[in-house]
Amino acid sequence: MKFRGLMMIAGLLWSGTASAADAGQALAQRNVCLACHQVDAKRVGPSFRDIALRYSGNEAAAEYLARTIRDGSRGLWGAIPMPAQRHVDPATALQLAEWIMTLAPQAKRGDGSGAADSALEEDIEAGKDTRDAGHASPTDGAKS
Ligand code: HEC
Repeated sequence: MKFRGLMMIAGLLWSGTASAADAGQALAQRNVCLACHQVDAKRVGPSFRDIALRYSGNEAAAEYLARTIRDGSRGLWGAIPMPAQRHVDPATALQLAEWIMTLAPQAKRGDGSGAADSALEEDIEAGKDTRDAGHASPTDGAKS
């Protein structure tokens, strides 16, 4: 299983998505995301692949993450908050979010927690400004 998973990831990296992956990586580099994030390893912040896995299966994820990139995030992954990335314009934030979401292995898509997914969608639909609350809501319920 482990080996198959690795082969799938390798396949994703080396197949047609390679240039898109490079572009995403370059964009993350340019916007200084890589000072705190890596694709596959936790650094100051969670790895981009862990983020993709957490929100995989949620169609609104890219939109939600684009907002958290610009607004910052706290309390979802650990003690260290992510400062708001206001130097990133909304279109670029969406591109980054969409790239991050491509990092989840396809097989994992759709088997995220349904409860977390619908809570997240409700937040987005309600247009809730989660900045002040540190938007602790999307997945907290599912975790406890
Ligand atoms: C100063 C360090 C730092 C920088 C720079 C940074 N991040 Fe983060 N990021 C973090 C930390 C820490 C977290 C976890 C926050 C939490 O626990 O809620 C995080 C979380 C995230 C999340 C998950 C948010 C969620 O709602 O689950 C995304 C997506 C993300 N970062 C993307 C980016 C992108 C894209 C950039 C570049 C524009 C970036 N980050 C720059 C530290 C950083």
